[in-house]
Amino acid sequence: MKLKSSICISAALVSLALYVLLHSDGKHKVRAKSVFDFLRPAPRQLYKLDPSWPRNPESITGVPYDIAVDHVNSLVYIAQRGENVSKVLVFTEDGYFKTAWKTNTLDMPHGIFAVIKEEQLKSIWITDVGQGSYGHTVKQYSPSGSLLKILGTPGIAGHLTSPLQFDQPADIFVDPEDEIYIVDGDGGMNNRLLKLTDDFSLQWTMGENGSDPCHFYIPHSVALDDVGRIWVADRGNKRIQVFDTASGEFIGIWDSCFTEDGPYSVRFTSDKKYAVVVQLNISRMLFLAVPPVGEIGVCKVVNTIQMADGVRPHLVDVNIKTGSIYVAELGAEQVQKYVPL
Ligand SMILES: *[C@@H]1O[C@H](CO)[C@@H](O)[C@H](O)[C@H]1NC(C)=O
Ligand SMILES: *[C@@H]1O[C@H](CO)[C@@H](O)[C@H](O)[C@H]1NC(C)=O
Ligand SMILES: *[C@@H]1O[C@H](CO)[C@@H](O)[C@H](O)[C@H]1NC(C)=O
Repeated sequence: MKLKSSICISAALVSLALYVLLHSDGKHKVRAKSVFDFLRPAPRQLYKLDPSWPRNPESITGVPYDIAVDHVNSLVYIAQRGENVSKVLVFTEDGYFKTAWKTNTLDMPHGIFAVIKEEQLKSIWITDVGQGSYGHTVKQYSPSGSLLKILGTPGIAGHLTSPLQFDQPADIFVDPEDEIYIVDGDGGMNNRLLKLTDDFSLQWTMGENGSDPCHFYIPHSVALDDVGRIWVADRGNKRIQVFDTASGEFIGIWDSCFTEDGPYSVRFTSDKKYAVVVQLNISRMLFLAVPPVGEIGVCKVVNTIQMADGVRPHLVDVNIKTGSIYVAELGAEQVQKYVPL
């Protein structure tokens, strides 16, 4: 782990040197562009709220923490918390309540992720930050809610890697090869990113508490793009860090867009042009321009949706076919749908 993080930090220095080297080349272009940006009128909105979604809002009986979209079957899986409520609700993308899971194996769901392969929904993963007998785990379910696999040590917070332990794991992302990325977590004890193989063995772990590159402070959301980069919403440090999927090497940091509030979510729009980030405390959704490959440069907000005070958006998911964005809101206790304009 020490070795991993030193490889990571030296990679950071290399990319800094590279940036300095290349800087003189692109300098004038960059300056000219920013003058035009300044003169340009405010960008048009990219998304608008669909106020008719959901059509059965009364079926959301708890507080929704996250959503996973199954674009194949046009379904939305909502992870919610509350006493004596089903922890997972399934809605259609038209907004109708379809079903609720019966499982009693969820304590306090946090992140939820739909694994879709060969145009089929294979499974649903949920991170559980509860303190009860099912807490501190990352669990895989069948689409109808049968428990298939438990990662971590149920009910026990910890930092070990053998046996694997979590402390309030925040989010999970599974890539097309079934490799698993987990950010651990929401609790403060662990501040790390873990990569597991398709047979659930630990491949590497990165990070400890701190604000250096490759360190984290409450890593809250993780996503892969299509060009081999891992994006981590490093909430407590008010920044997004990006790493290489193959080597784990550090690629870059975005921090200048998050001075007012840290990033809670990171997902990508269906055209892959923008990162979708919500900021809970200031009830805002940001669209940030994503460089198509390689270095991530300095972050640039291309569009903002300001929600009402107290809405408190927590995590999001995107329908990669239609582009619709779903937002789980802790303050408003609802899920909202935004559609591309
Ligand atoms: C939940 O169910 C238990 C057992 O049936 C009951 O004692 C408790 O009052 C219920 N809580 C709420 C908030 O309905
Ligand atoms: C974790 O790191 C952050 C800086 O990123 C710092 O503010 C915080 O105090 C640290 N927490 C602990 C328990 O050391
Ligand atoms: C959240 O935002 C409010 C103002 O909107 C501010 O007063 C408060 O300090 C913020 N809290 C945190 C934890 O950032």
